[in-house]
Amino acid sequence: MENRPLEYDYTVAKLWMISAIVLGIVGMLIGVILAWQLAFPGVNLLLGEGLAEYTSFGRLRPLHTDAVIYGFTVSGIMATWYYVGQRVLKVSMAESKFLMVTAKIQFWLYAIGVVLIVVSLLFGLSQGKEYAEFIWPIDIAIVIIWVLWGVQIFGLIGIRREKTIYISIWYYIASFLAVSALYIFNNMAIPTYFASGGIGSIFHSVSMYAGTNDALVQWWFGHNAVGFVLTVPIIAMIYYFLPKESGQAIYSYKLSLLAFWGLVFTYVWAGGHHLIFATTPDWMQTMGSVFSVILILPSWGSAINMLLTMKGEWNQVATNPLIKFMVLASTFYMFSTLEGPIQAIKSVNALAHFTEWIVGHVHDGALGWVVFMIIAAMLHMAPRVYGREIYSKSLLNTQFWLQTLGVTLYFTSMWIAGITQGMMWRAHDEFGNLAYSFIDSVIALEPFYIIRAVGGTIYLIGMFIWAYNMYKTATAGRRVEANELQNTSPMAS
Ligand code: HEM
Ligand code: HEM
Repeated sequence: MENRPLEYDYTVAKLWMISAIVLGIVGMLIGVILAWQLAFPGVNLLLGEGLAEYTSFGRLRPLHTDAVIYGFTVSGIMATWYYVGQRVLKVSMAESKFLMVTAKIQFWLYAIGVVLIVVSLLFGLSQGKEYAEFIWPIDIAIVIIWVLWGVQIFGLIGIRREKTIYISIWYYIASFLAVSALYIFNNMAIPTYFASGGIGSIFHSVSMYAGTNDALVQWWFGHNAVGFVLTVPIIAMIYYFLPKESGQAIYSYKLSLLAFWGLVFTYVWAGGHHLIFATTPDWMQTMGSVFSVILILPSWGSAINMLLTMKGEWNQVATNPLIKFMVLASTFYMFSTLEGPIQAIKSVNALAHFTEWIVGHVHDGALGWVVFMIIAAMLHMAPRVYGREIYSKSLLNTQFWLQTLGVTLYFTSMWIAGITQGMMWRAHDEFGNLAYSFIDSVIALEPFYIIRAVGGTIYLIGMFIWAYNMYKTATAGRRVEANELQNTSPMAS
């Protein structure tokens, strides 16, 4: 091992950081618009009747989900990979021209893909599968972008100096392998150009699977996309950034490995919980429920490991805003991985499915766990990448409290809304007549939709504060030398 510290190259990491900030704001801005549309349907005509086609809920919803998942989250995953990968493997990207060039190609191909996705979804070109809306030519581009990430991961591992492969790298590898298989199998489709369909039909395709089989593959994909995009790579981040920021070693490295194998083994069997009471075999639904409950073990194994890493150092929660973000992220992770298994129990799912409680679950996981962790990771990276101190700690604290308030308003209102909805739909008199019509339940929900929209707007304001703080850090923060930065970690580098 060389004595001179390595000069890591963050050119590509910086590009992904910008992409995460921009797509995070765009995606969440659309989320806020959707939330106001549900509260006040007139907002569907945001830009007037002429443009209603493009601003309606149906067009914007997939744009929101795809922008926050494939835009913000994937950019956050890449930004952290291009930082963490080099540091824990103790090798600089600058040492391989091939890796530098392919990494840049990967980013710019992604940027072109984002533009094509926005245009195609706004024009209503969609495969019609949730989280797999993209038309087939874009799917092909996505596979190339993803494979290029694999080239980076294994390329960097191939030229590493550090023999031990730190746990975070395992999680990144699992994300890469699982998403590759999921994405390709779920998007297997046959292009079906038909002359009378006009230019748009060039992009039309039909899934290789039919009926129930299609639903099964779709939710095997959908659930594991949650697992291997919104969970596994985020764990990769926290296992690196929490010890780094706090100066504490991971509580138990053994537990992190055990939880890793538990998680990857259990996740793949749990997707059936999305199809409870659907026309899928009963044993598959039961298997989905059972594995969902088992999933609490590895999920909590990871979460407890994260929290115990702070043992003896809880005072840092009060003094360091980044630790606040990460500790709350772990707590929300625990919380959503208890809530999910509860929703997967058949009798509970009978009440919860199709209701806002599911949307509440999605967002306590997304806003509390995924976004908080990516924000903390990028704030830890910023001083090291730009050689400047975080511009404003007080802005950071304001952001933390605003976003904590925002997510709390979001999930609490959606819990109440969802359970109200479920109860109203099933309420009946002694003769079996339904007590409420559907529209009664919609009217009952209006106050909760407003609370959610307010919560979402507050959360979005926090995102703008974050973007401003990051921009100012990069351009006007006080200059710092690498050795000035607190740098104590289990994998010192
Ligand atoms: C300011 C922040 C956000 C707001 C206000 C917001 C709002 C919304 C709204 C109104 C919906 C439609 C719900 C419905 O159809 O009933 C939705 C759906 C969804 N959002 Fe968000 N969102 C935000 C951030 C995020 C983030 C950061 C993620 C993921 C990383 C995310 C993932 C999703 C998903 C997966 C759905 C579909 C849920 C389902 O089908 O059950 N959202 N969001
Ligand atoms: C132990 C872990 C988890 C289990 C067992 C679980 C279980 C569930 C269940 C039962 C549903 C509702 C299915 C339905 O009736 O429609 C669901 C939906 C969902 N969960 Fe989880 N969940 C877990 C963790 C998470 C986490 C950490 C996230 C991250 C943000 C997440 C994101 C989602 C999304 C996006 C959906 C909505 C899918 C859709 O209908 O569009 N889940 N989950």
